[in-house]
Amino acid sequence: MYNISVIPGDGIGKEVMEATLHVLEAIDLEFDYTFADAGDEYMEKTGVALPQETMDIVKASEACLFGAAGESAADVIVRMRQELELYVNLRPVKSYPGTKCLSDNLDFVIVRENTEGLYIGLEEETDEGAIAKRVVTRKASERICKFAFEYAKKTKRSKVTAVHKANVLKKTDGVFKGTFYKVAEDYPEMELDDRYVDATAMFFITKPEMFDVIVTTNLFGDILSDEGAGLVGGLGLIPSANIGDKQGLFEPVHGSAPRISGKGVANPAAMMLSAVLMLEYLDENEEARRLENALVKVLQEGKVVTPDLGGSASTMEMAAEVRKKLEV
Ligand code: NAI
Ligand code: MG
Repeated sequence: MYNISVIPGDGIGKEVMEATLHVLEAIDLEFDYTFADAGDEYMEKTGVALPQETMDIVKASEACLFGAAGESAADVIVRMRQELELYVNLRPVKSYPGTKCLSDNLDFVIVRENTEGLYIGLEEETDEGAIAKRVVTRKASERICKFAFEYAKKTKRSKVTAVHKANVLKKTDGVFKGTFYKVAEDYPEMELDDRYVDATAMFFITKPEMFDVIVTTNLFGDILSDEGAGLVGGLGLIPSANIGDKQGLFEPVHGSAPRISGKGVANPAAMMLSAVLMLEYLDENEEARRLENALVKVLQEGKVVTPDLGGSASTMEMAAEVRKKLEV
């Protein structure tokens, strides 16, 4: 029995969450869900976007499924990442059949350090303009690299690539690159590689199949994650995981999509794939593959899919179809 906190949030967050929980009922595991509030709607009622009660529920759970927040997203999701010390941001770049991808047969993962680097917020104005500090510690580099190798091992991947710019950022990325190779000593079976971030941005377009697991610092990971999303197209398809030592939070990359919310047409795939990442996190790899394969069948057939995928099915009709594939 897994203790899972569930935050549907705002707009289509609620719709894709309902669809995903419907599908999870057909998974051969028991989940004990605790629902919690956060987001714009809750703020309109109470004046706060993320109540302490929700934080407590998430902290007491093994994993959290998060739908989406609206305008309060920064107050909700960014605060949770900080307070829960979710130092890993994980974004798969996977091309699925029946979807518009720049490149077919893509399957790699970006592991982004989520707590330091250039995003630490140490900026100051000077007479000439402004200066930002970039912080790279051995401790944070070690835990993110370790995570990347462990994830690679767990998901049966064979190569880990460190992405950096150590030729220019000699000190900070020197620490990152040095730590990567040190951590790698514990994983002699893993193939290693390191690349400059600018070249990596190009290889995403020209030779993306060379990547398996990428590990990188905060800003580079942010940019490459969105470039990766562009390769496999469609916000409705991109999941993410935020992981710390105590729990993981799994959410689609998209927001509350106010323009389509309430119409029942949101694509539930990104939320379902976030649940796949949750199952992997819980070491339930068999069930993760089963859920992913059921969704892949539905995408491949292309018959019962939402309008963004060229179909005319509703969110819940697509969910029912995925569940049907799981139950056969
Ligand atoms: P958005 O991701 O909500 O929507 C961008 C575009 O993609 C829209 O055209 C939308 O209709 C489409 N789209 C997104 N998800 C889809 C799905 N599952 N199926 C079909 N189409 C989908 O981003 P936007 O419009 O910039 O922001 C809307 C609100 O969401 C804002 O209030 C923003 O602050 C919030 N937001 C929250 C996030 C979070 O909770 N993590 C992340 C991004 C935005
Ligand atoms: Mg971003």
